[in-house]
Amino acid sequence: MYDVSARPKHRSRGAARLLLGGACALAVIVASMAVATLAQADLSGPPGTTLQAAAERSGRYFGAAMGADRLNDSGFLTIADREFDMMTAVNEMKPDATEPNRGQFDFRAGDAIYNWATQHGMRFRGHTLAWHAQQPRFWGSLSGSALRTAMIDHINGVMAHYKGKFAYWDVVNEAFAENGSRRSSNLQSTGNDWIEVAFRTARAADPSVKLCYNDYNIENWSYGKTQGVYNMIRDFKNRGVPIDCVGLQTHFTGGSSLPGNFQQTLSSFAALGVDVALTEADVTNASTSQYQGLTQACMNVPRCVGITTWGIRDSDSWRGNESPLLFDRNSNPKAAYTAVLNALNAASTTVPGTTTPPTTTPPTTTPPTTPPTEQPGACTATYRMVNSWGGGFQGEVSVTNNGSATLSGWTVRLTLAGGQTLANLWSGINTGTSGAVSVRNAEYNGTLGANASTTFGFLVNGSSDAAPGGLSCTSP
Ligand code: XIL
Repeated sequence: MYDVSARPKHRSRGAARLLLGGACALAVIVASMAVATLAQADLSGPPGTTLQAAAERSGRYFGAAMGADRLNDSGFLTIADREFDMMTAVNEMKPDATEPNRGQFDFRAGDAIYNWATQHGMRFRGHTLAWHAQQPRFWGSLSGSALRTAMIDHINGVMAHYKGKFAYWDVVNEAFAENGSRRSSNLQSTGNDWIEVAFRTARAADPSVKLCYNDYNIENWSYGKTQGVYNMIRDFKNRGVPIDCVGLQTHFTGGSSLPGNFQQTLSSFAALGVDVALTEADVTNASTSQYQGLTQACMNVPRCVGITTWGIRDSDSWRGNESPLLFDRNSNPKAAYTAVLNALNAASTTVPGTTTPPTTTPPTTTPPTTPPTEQPGACTATYRMVNSWGGGFQGEVSVTNNGSATLSGWTVRLTLAGGQTLANLWSGINTGTSGAVSVRNAEYNGTLGANASTTFGFLVNGSSDAAPGGLSCTSP
């Protein structure tokens, strides 16, 4: 239901042929729907020569934001069509734009952007349903349950119009303060549960779209606001509040810059069981190293599904005086464009669910040097290598409950070969990064019924891709 991870516009010929047979008739039927399920990561293909082609190699997207005024700007449209496969409306789908008066919805500007984007093969990120800013004027005279009802009605009205059409919706935008507490706003004043009410309403309104929480200044893992948002997402996952993704705006403008621990932030959010995305990227003076770094961090985290820049050329930017985008005012790509393109092409992880499973036996280049170890007892751990490159590899461990009683919690122990260091681990919590490492379940995947299994994944740096040894699983 939520497999909307990638829909390449310009698929490689081989992949296109594979998809053609069964998909052809269906494609006609769903041509007007943006939510396609075709997903074709292929890291062995040639490097992409556009942002979208380079991103699609790993099952990711490369997006931009546009205002309706850009629909008459052929310079903008040419680059958008060539380079991008995901689109977001800058202002046209915000609450003040879509419901200027109570119960009176206006989708003209949003639809114009949506129609252009989808007619040019792009998918769509909706932005945004509930926010302290750019609210309809009538929200300003409401409070308490009346404002709560207006928010719910707004979500229902807008999502009904775009039902089945978007890949992602930013349901709630910017609800946290810098210290990690909730931002004070009229919506917050309706009660602390307003965010989860928004998400539950959204899920019921359109079960086909991935629902995101979106914010800025949540890129630095040790920052209070990041931790506040993380704790909310963890709480939502624990309590079954529907949430599928976290959008990190990544505005490295206005005095902000790329933190050194950005990848840790992405992988930590992803380990909660949500997609992560960079939703509004821009960088002061288009610093090549920061653009390279933010792209690489995303490429290193399998559940980082894509990157959107907030505009295309500096002349499109809300912070144009900082020249923060990948194209200059004359539509020329900057050095940062090349850095991003190369980092996309160098991706070594793919988005889960976007790789076609091999129809033949796995290639002989990736056998584990020790066979998967079966252990007596409640659970079994088996290792497989997902992908390797000079300097590292991606591994996955399946944890299976081979008893008849439900397990609550598991711990896998393994030993990394000499010179190998764990760079990143998701869907589990590790102790140690070299030699003997133990991994216990994440909060959401510890309960395993009889014969049920789950997986965790990890990236290892090191010149050898030797399989971990001494695999064992215990519970709890
Ligand atoms: C900005 C738009 O780019 C401007 O045109 C508008 O005046 C204000 O909003 N975070 C968000 C975006 O989530 O919606 C904001 O967009 C930029 C910051």
